[in-house]
Amino acid sequence: MSRTPIIAGNWKMFKTVPEAESFFAEVKGAAEVEGVETVICAPFTNLPALTKAAQGTSIKIGAQNLHFEDNGAYTGEISGVMLKDLGVDYVILGHSERRAYFGETDEIVNKKMHAAFRHGITPIVCVGEKLEEREADQTKEVCKVQTEGAFQGLSAEQAAQTVIAYEPIWAIGTGKSSTSADANEVIAYIRSLIKDLYDEATAEVIRIQYGGSVKPENVTEYMGQSDIDGALVGGASLQPASFIQLVEGAK
Ligand code: G3H
Repeated sequence: MSRTPIIAGNWKMFKTVPEAESFFAEVKGAAEVEGVETVICAPFTNLPALTKAAQGTSIKIGAQNLHFEDNGAYTGEISGVMLKDLGVDYVILGHSERRAYFGETDEIVNKKMHAAFRHGITPIVCVGEKLEEREADQTKEVCKVQTEGAFQGLSAEQAAQTVIAYEPIWAIGTGKSSTSADANEVIAYIRSLIKDLYDEATAEVIRIQYGGSVKPENVTEYMGQSDIDGALVGGASLQPASFIQLVEGAK
């Protein structure tokens, strides 16, 4: 079974609209590589300009969050209805920064997964352990709880479309990446969880990325592993040249 590799840039809280437009103009064409899916997950304010710029290209645009309700008195929030209206294809859910700084629980992440599917937006759902959990040999247990929580009530068809990003928290933005073999072992384990929750066919098609200090110099090594289907990249996705190299490295 061959799964299309997916490189997703997560810009986090970086880039104004003119910066986003100029980035897109530079990567258009070069970051459209046959056999690799390219996604840019940008701050909400950039999404109208980016979805417009991405029309007619193969680059997909993603958000970094959504609210689980479609509308209502939720000051400051953005819903799946609004994102779909802009032409957004992907949404990052349950990123460790949202879990740590904004109190997102597995239950909230699950509600957001359902909201994304209600509006035809594909979730990139993040799971991963803290340093102390890794040191206590709890990596697999943490990933199990987060994965089972996120997929609660989703059909096999929805699960098959979902992208999971395994991001060990201690590797995010630290320059300390997991070895490709270690990342592959955890990702293979997450794939086995999907098999247990659904079936073998779903586990075979679901794409699971690695995230945490991925850069042009190490992306090929991760991509060479049997179960790693791409990368969710923060820092190294912010510069056009580096982003293009990441996509090329995933071929
Ligand atoms: O979503 C991306 C991850 O948090 C990884 O960030 O590539 O800067 O380590 P990083």
